[in-house]
Amino acid sequence: MRIIMLGPPGAGKGTQAEALTKKLDIPAISTGDMLRDAVSRETAIGLKAKSFMDAGQLVPDDIIIGIVSERLSNPDCANGYILDGVPRTLVQAEALDQQAVAIDVVLSIEISDEEILERLGGRRACPNCNAIFHITSKPPKEEGICDECGTELIIRQDDNPETIKNRLDTYHKETKPLKEYYESKGLLKTVDNVPGVEETTAAVFKVLGI
Ligand code: AP5
Repeated sequence: MRIIMLGPPGAGKGTQAEALTKKLDIPAISTGDMLRDAVSRETAIGLKAKSFMDAGQLVPDDIIIGIVSERLSNPDCANGYILDGVPRTLVQAEALDQQAVAIDVVLSIEISDEEILERLGGRRACPNCNAIFHITSKPPKEEGICDECGTELIIRQDDNPETIKNRLDTYHKETKPLKEYYESKGLLKTVDNVPGVEETTAAVFKVLGI
C-alpha cells in the first residue's frame, strides 16, 4: 500500500505513520525527520534547509523532490510506503505524478488550529529513533526517556508558539489545497483526530480497511 499522510503540523501524521508502519510492515518516510537528520549532521542539504525550518516555512521544492525520489528508490520501498509530510505543495505532488509514483490513498488528518497548539506544546520527540510522545496523551514509561531506544527526549526547535503559527499559516496557504487536488483524483480519505492516540489509530485502520 502506498499512502500519503496529509494534515496540519501536529495533526498526528507522524504518530499514525508509526502505527501504520508496524501494522503494514512498510517504511514511513518523513521528510521532516530526514531534514532534521541532515540539519544535525550539518550536510549541504541540512545547511540549506535549517533557516526555512526555523522560520516555519517550507524548504524549497527542488530539495524535497531530490531527497524523496532518492529515498523511494531504496529496496525497502518495493512493497509500499507511507509518505509523512510530503507532498506539501502542488509542485511536489506533480513531481510524484511525473515519477509515476502510484498512490493508493491520501489520508488527511483533521484537527482544529486551537487543538494543535496544545498538542505541539506537550510533544516530546526522540532525536535518535524519531519516536513521538506527549506529556499527557502519550507519556513515555520513564519521564523524559524514549521507550524505544532509551535516548533522552527533546522539545523540537520548531515547537515554539511563533514558529507553530507560521507553520499553520504555511499549511493553510500551501498544503491544504492538496486536499482538493487528491479529492479530484478520487484518492482522498479523511479521519478526525479524535482525542486519544489509540482511538485515532482505530479510526485510521477502519478508513483504510485494514
Ligand atoms: P514536519 O516534521 O513534517 O512537521 P509538521 O508537518 O509540522 O508535522 P509535525 O511533525 O509537527 O506533526 P505531526 O502531524 O507528525 O504530529 P505528531 O504525530 O508529532 O516538518 C517540519 C519542517 O520541515 C516544516 O516546517 C518544513 O520547514 C520542513 N519540511 C518537511 N517536509 C517538507 C516538505 N515536504 N516540503 C517542504 N518543507 C518540508 O503529533 C503531535 C503531538 O500530538 C505528539 O506529541 C503526539 O503524541 C500527540 N498526539 C497525536 N495524536 C494524538 C491524539 N489523537 N490525541 C492526543 N494526542 C495526540
